[in-house]
Amino acid sequence: MKKLAVFVLALATASFAFAGGGQQGGGSSGGVTKGMDRKIVMGYSQIGAESEWRTACTNSVKAAAAEWNIDLRFSDAQQQQQNQLQAIRTFIQQKVDIIAFTPVVETGWEAILKECLDAGIPTICVDRSIEGSDRVAANPNDKNDPDNWFTAFIGSDMEQEGNRAAAWLIANAAKIKPGKSVYNIVELQGTVGSSAMTGRFKGFRDTFGIPAASALGTSADGKFKIILSQTGDFTRAQGKQVMEAFMKSNGNDIDILFAHNDDMAIGAIQAIQEAGKVPGKDIIIVGIDAVKGAFEAMVAGTMNASIECNPLLGPQVMETAVNILNKKPVEKWVVSKESDYDQSNAAAAYPSRQY
Ligand code: AHR
Repeated sequence: MKKLAVFVLALATASFAFAGGGQQGGGSSGGVTKGMDRKIVMGYSQIGAESEWRTACTNSVKAAAAEWNIDLRFSDAQQQQQNQLQAIRTFIQQKVDIIAFTPVVETGWEAILKECLDAGIPTICVDRSIEGSDRVAANPNDKNDPDNWFTAFIGSDMEQEGNRAAAWLIANAAKIKPGKSVYNIVELQGTVGSSAMTGRFKGFRDTFGIPAASALGTSADGKFKIILSQTGDFTRAQGKQVMEAFMKSNGNDIDILFAHNDDMAIGAIQAIQEAGKVPGKDIIIVGIDAVKGAFEAMVAGTMNASIECNPLLGPQVMETAVNILNKKPVEKWVVSKESDYDQSNAAAAYPSRQY
């Protein structure tokens, strides 16, 4: 996973060709982009609208584009990588100034990103990253080096989020369910192959001392055991559906649910209640994102903790885009700053939450 936050000069080959025409969500009136001497055009390929978090991210991008007076061409891929590739290809044909995108999965981007390089259009990865390109390239002209495939990545350290979820459980599980020698964990994974899923999966296991290659396993100290792990694709509906199956097969043995996002945790809470168990007590629930729905559940006592993943990335995306186009140095990875929330601080934090 991504380990370095380093500086790199924006691609010297960035194209400044203007592309007029349709836009959605950004400033469509005249004038110039903040920090530029003209109005710039950004193509943005978003994954879809699978979660509360994603909606907040999209709103942040659109609001920031309007604020910076950037002509934003926004495309919703409805969870399909194919749609993202098509959108990016269209942006290239339209000769946009810069392309930002949230890769639904980590792999399969080489060809399209090389097309962007050939067209001289810099790219920014937002929220999720792509495999194997987390550093400044040794040779900035080597197209085959994945480190050259995008100019900047703006998003969270997903692996660290998995570490934080496990650390919270190590510190708190015995306070909620005392007297257990082993805590059985079930896991709802995010979209398979996405950096959000692979990072959280690995980070969670690393902190427990469970080999990252195994879906199931026992912590090095023998106190935590992952007994079931399946994807719920980051959606509330699938989180509920998979948890229903978990409850049917192992309902009486489950002590902990780790969900790779809050939406799946919220769906699972319903399944747990329908199975006659008390979420937050019989089953300790930890999610990721810290969306309002999770705060409501924590205040109601049905969820125990949420590890924040910041979706309000729009302002950083626009600022980074302008810096790249002005050929100013930008960080290769702008890491989001985040906190952890649980029932001890959720009520106090809730009123100031923006998403
Ligand atoms: O990539 C970020 C993840 O994607 C969020 O945790 C999840 O809610 C979203 O759908």
